[in-house]
Amino acid sequence: MLRVGYPAVLLPEMLADFPAEVEMIPISEKMEGEVEIDVWIPDPYSTRASRAWPHLRGVKLVLSMMAGTEWIPPLVGPHVTICNARGAHNVSTAEWTLAAILASLKYFPLYFDIQRSAKWTRRFEASAHYAAISGDSRPIYPPVLQEELTGKTVLIVGYGSIGKEIERMLAPFRVELLRVARTVRSEPRVHSITELDSLLPLAQVVILIVPSTLETRHLINASRLGFMRQGALLVNAARGPVVDTDALVAALQSGRIRAAVDVTDPEPLPAEHPLWSCPNLLITPHIGGSTPQFAPRSLAIAADEVRRYMCGEPLHNVVQAAI
Ligand SMILES: NC(=O)c1ccc[n+]([C@@H]2O[C@H](COP(=O)([O-])OP(=O)(O)OC[C@H]3O[C@@H](n4cnc5c(N)ncnc54)[C@H](OP(=O)(O)O)[C@@H]3O)[C@@H](O)[C@H]2O)c1
Repeated sequence: MLRVGYPAVLLPEMLADFPAEVEMIPISEKMEGEVEIDVWIPDPYSTRASRAWPHLRGVKLVLSMMAGTEWIPPLVGPHVTICNARGAHNVSTAEWTLAAILASLKYFPLYFDIQRSAKWTRRFEASAHYAAISGDSRPIYPPVLQEELTGKTVLIVGYGSIGKEIERMLAPFRVELLRVARTVRSEPRVHSITELDSLLPLAQVVILIVPSTLETRHLINASRLGFMRQGALLVNAARGPVVDTDALVAALQSGRIRAAVDVTDPEPLPAEHPLWSCPNLLITPHIGGSTPQFAPRSLAIAADEVRRYMCGEPLHNVVQAAI
């Protein structure tokens, strides 16, 4: 009988999609001794999963509940096949991206601060904020108190599962869309990553949604931040190392660009880190994928992979084939 290890913290009713012939084994991060399993669904939190791994024996297949799996190959080595849960985060992460863009362009962080101070008249601080970040210091009347997304040029860097969902959600805003990936495509047009430098100056919003790999490390560095327009918004929904943090801090402190990030480098971001106090920045602590719908969706994908594995069918979301 195939033995599938799953995080013991999951509610048992979440496992209803797995084939009845499978033995489901709860794996706790606090376990002692060893347990023999064939398939491992690691805890989505890498620190917890890493505590369980030394106790596991016989693992041939790892089914991650997450889209990003960069920490799993160094943990389990090359002799194990790894699949991700491609698609499980599409809605949550795309919605976060839209929310982060709108919150930034509608100055919600400023207005939340005003709400906490209970001072209605502070709303005119928004006009000074607009003048500073846009570089437009004309005395505009009536004053600018927020901006619009509609009609802006949006560059999506990474046109995979989540990138496409972001595009679908952006459709009502009638934005001018530019797309970048590794592979050039037409219908819709997807540019090569080698064209990134020439595309960055065209965009008012730049969305990062690529995996964290050696190639994407510091994809956005000081020189590329320099190619962004005055006041452009950088949205990092991908992984912290995709952006050079020191360069981002410098660009924000100079008032050239603004940013909204769900992910940082390092994570967790230490209390004393300069990023926390940068101007024109919205930070959420890596929450982009975590909704009530995420675990059931991820586990349904894992259950389907288990069924395929048992039938000898090709697996759907292989990110590392065992050697
Ligand atoms: N904030 C969060 O909580 C959260 C939640 C979910 C996911 N994520 C992150 O989002 C990433 C993307 O997820 P996904 O499901 O959309 O992945 P995906 O379907 O595999 O798509 C990845 C996209 O990135 C492109 N890409 C890969 N390497 C690249 C490179 N070196 N240069 C340019 N483009 C490159 C791919 O290009 P091709 O199309 O040409 O292959 C593809 O378009 C995940 O790996 C994860 O790190 C974050």
